[in-house]
Amino acid sequence: MNPFQYANIVEDEFFYDRKEELPRIVQTLEGGNNLVLYAPRRYGKSSLVNKALKELEIRGIKTVYLDFMSIYSQETFINKYAKIIAEKDIGPVEKTIKKIAGFLKGVVPVVSFDQYGNINFSLSKVEGADSEKTLAEVIDLPERLSISGQRWVVAFDEFQEITTLNGESFERLLRSIIQHHQNVSYLFLGSRTHLLKDMFNNKNRAFYNAAMLMNIDVIDKKESIDYLTMRFKNDGIEIDTQTAEYIVIKSQGIPYYIQFIAAEIWQDVINTTKKVSIETADESVRRIISLKSDYYWELTNKQTNYRKSVLKALSNDAGELFSRATAAKYHLGSASSTQKALESLIVQGIIEKTIKKYSFTDPVFRLFIKQNL
Ligand SMILES: Nc1ncnc2c1ncn2[C@@H]1O[C@H](COP(=O)(O)OP(=O)(O)O)[C@@H](O)[C@H]1O
Ligand SMILES: [Mg+2]
Repeated sequence: MNPFQYANIVEDEFFYDRKEELPRIVQTLEGGNNLVLYAPRRYGKSSLVNKALKELEIRGIKTVYLDFMSIYSQETFINKYAKIIAEKDIGPVEKTIKKIAGFLKGVVPVVSFDQYGNINFSLSKVEGADSEKTLAEVIDLPERLSISGQRWVVAFDEFQEITTLNGESFERLLRSIIQHHQNVSYLFLGSRTHLLKDMFNNKNRAFYNAAMLMNIDVIDKKESIDYLTMRFKNDGIEIDTQTAEYIVIKSQGIPYYIQFIAAEIWQDVINTTKKVSIETADESVRRIISLKSDYYWELTNKQTNYRKSVLKALSNDAGELFSRATAAKYHLGSASSTQKALESLIVQGIIEKTIKKYSFTDPVFRLFIKQNL
């Protein structure tokens, strides 16, 4: 089996490092505080939080994880959220259902069994029930279920998506209820960092000052080099430090791309040379680019010519993007035109702005642009 995984949340031996972030997250939540965790996509937030929640479970805290990417209406929120909470609140099923039914007026919990005998829990709406009220009741569930002092931690992934559901009213309702929760800590995470930060830093927003903010960076370079080396060597594959570092650099250090490229290399060499060199790494990256080239061309051709020039400049690490020299070299116009192009590329999720600079969210796309434009 390929020792590198990139399809989903990684666990166990597929997970490495985060030695500082993990205890900080666990301690903050265990201490009863709320936390916002933000970083661009594919930096490893969900995997990190999954591990933190497991740690909290070991300490007797009940944890709930809900990804707002899978929520497309208030109704889906009500159903999914109530269901995960019900499933967490262990005890005889009937008792749990009865208990929960007591807290929910607008919906009736329904239990059924699938063909394998697994319990299925769902909610059925009471005719004429006020859905605003039901929403409020569901949001209040973890606090209601903590009467005996049971502590809960709720993680809302890609939380910025809440604004797409019902303007700001859902956001306001959620805040107004959870601010009274004594036994529940909340963890908000998200990839669209500017949106998420605005939710918590903007005085006019409901979640202003509702949680401590924490930024997640890429994994430490040395840790990644050691991990790559160890995983390849475990399978009898030779790799030197310089080559491992090369993979990390090609990936811009982003955890997902490190695993993605390493998985491709592993597949290439496991039954052949059993040796990774700079050349085999390059070869694997070329293969990945060609596999994705249809999509990359489509994405590229959606851009104006001006934006293509900006991408070209960025792909070549043009130092000062707004300098005259760069403008002349890449045929860029005024600083404001370049700024506008960058903003559009950020909204599209192609470029990410960090404190230091603008960079590609997808390092493979960067290599594609560099090679093809
Ligand atoms: N700590 C880690 N150890 C190993 N791989 C990781 C780690 N964090 C992230 N990854 C890699 O990145 C991929 C995306 O991680 P994920 O947690 O889904 O990121 P995010 O939620 O920030 O988008 C994982 O499938 C894995 O390949
Ligand atoms: Mg995620």
